[in-house]
Amino acid sequence: MANPFSDPAFYRDRYPVYAALRQRCPVAQVSMGGSSGTTAVVTGYDQARAALADPALSKDTVAFFADRPSGRALHPALASTMLNSDPPDHTRLRRLVTRAFTPARVQQLRPAVRALAEELVDGWSPGDRVDLMEGLAVPLPVTVICQLLGVPDADRASVHRWSSDLLATGDHERIDSASHALADYMSALAAAKREKPDEALLSALVAVRDEDGDRLSELELVSLAVLLLVAGHETTTAAIGNSVLALLQHPEQLALLRADHGRVPGAVDELLRYDSPVSIATWRWAPKATRLGETEVPAGSPVFVSPGAANRDPARFTDPDRLDLDRPDARSHLAFGHGIHRCLGAPLAQVEVETVLLLLLERFPGLQLAEPAEQLLWRHSRLVRGLEALPVQL
Ligand code: HEM
Repeated sequence: MANPFSDPAFYRDRYPVYAALRQRCPVAQVSMGGSSGTTAVVTGYDQARAALADPALSKDTVAFFADRPSGRALHPALASTMLNSDPPDHTRLRRLVTRAFTPARVQQLRPAVRALAEELVDGWSPGDRVDLMEGLAVPLPVTVICQLLGVPDADRASVHRWSSDLLATGDHERIDSASHALADYMSALAAAKREKPDEALLSALVAVRDEDGDRLSELELVSLAVLLLVAGHETTTAAIGNSVLALLQHPEQLALLRADHGRVPGAVDELLRYDSPVSIATWRWAPKATRLGETEVPAGSPVFVSPGAANRDPARFTDPDRLDLDRPDARSHLAFGHGIHRCLGAPLAQVEVETVLLLLLERFPGLQLAEPAEQLLWRHSRLVRGLEALPVQL
């Protein structure tokens, strides 16, 4: 099958493409063009869940590209993050940051997240037309993760621009240049924290690094901080936009939340299942020939696992293309991944999405789309499914 990801139509509506792939085979061999052979694209739920936790698949991108010169100039800190590494490195790096993201720690951030969200909408009045992405879905998550890490307020806009450039599928020059800008920025910030530590996470990581270089090298420190920054906000921004859009397109489901705000926390799982922000998970590959479902995957083959497709698999979810806040098994979605790389920030993402939905329900009970949904622009990113803009009438 030809590369579906090169077609601009895919970015507008991926679900028919995923359904066609799944129907052909839940683990389909797809040609990405050029001489790169086939890529296994996993769209079935059972197969995706198994692949995400399969130790036979590696996430070590550096090893993959070692004998396949890519001509790329990605900064080494971004070429090998925790999300691009296998145990034991992955285990060591993840252990350094898990404590900062436990549900208990994240609950303590709830009032601050609420205060930030309120500040962002304080100037809005019922009847106004605003872009919900620009006004709320973009600035809230970037501010939260920057505060957690200790990135100064003044640098937030640049940090957001670079991290957004990193997701520009196909535009290698833009991605590589953003990788250097972000890694150089983070190196300089780590040096500044070394001189003048604060209470935030980056200072804590600098202290670990300086205590014991075997636990964390300087490159790993930069790489971990950049990963947290990018993973911690692009996905959440998309989750907020996709959730609000899904509700506005399903007034009968939105009415359930309007009638009972207490249902918001439980609704987040179904919203993430319905339009998953990480549509195709990060890079995996098979160092040795292996089997995924019924499909033989040759040694050296890349594997794209799609949580977005798996979450719409009719073999797993009844009537999967329907948003149903009463769905009993919505929690088994794969929107946060599965296995050892399962999203570290899931509790924080839940708090942020919940906070925004509650605030919008309380302040703007008449919220509506200001443009037909078919005219909305989606980001050109294979990884993240998210809106460029979401014009709404408050
Ligand atoms: C709704 C918002 C979010 C979604 C849908 C999401 C989704 C995901 C997914 C699917 C993965 C696994 C990728 C793979 O296996 O290829 C992942 C990993 C990760 N996420 Fe999230 N994420 C969200 C928010 C966050 C937040 C707020 C943070 C905060 C720091 C975060 C940090 C991470 C990190 C560090 C990893 C890598 C974990 C590892 O390699 O062990 N994410 N996320």
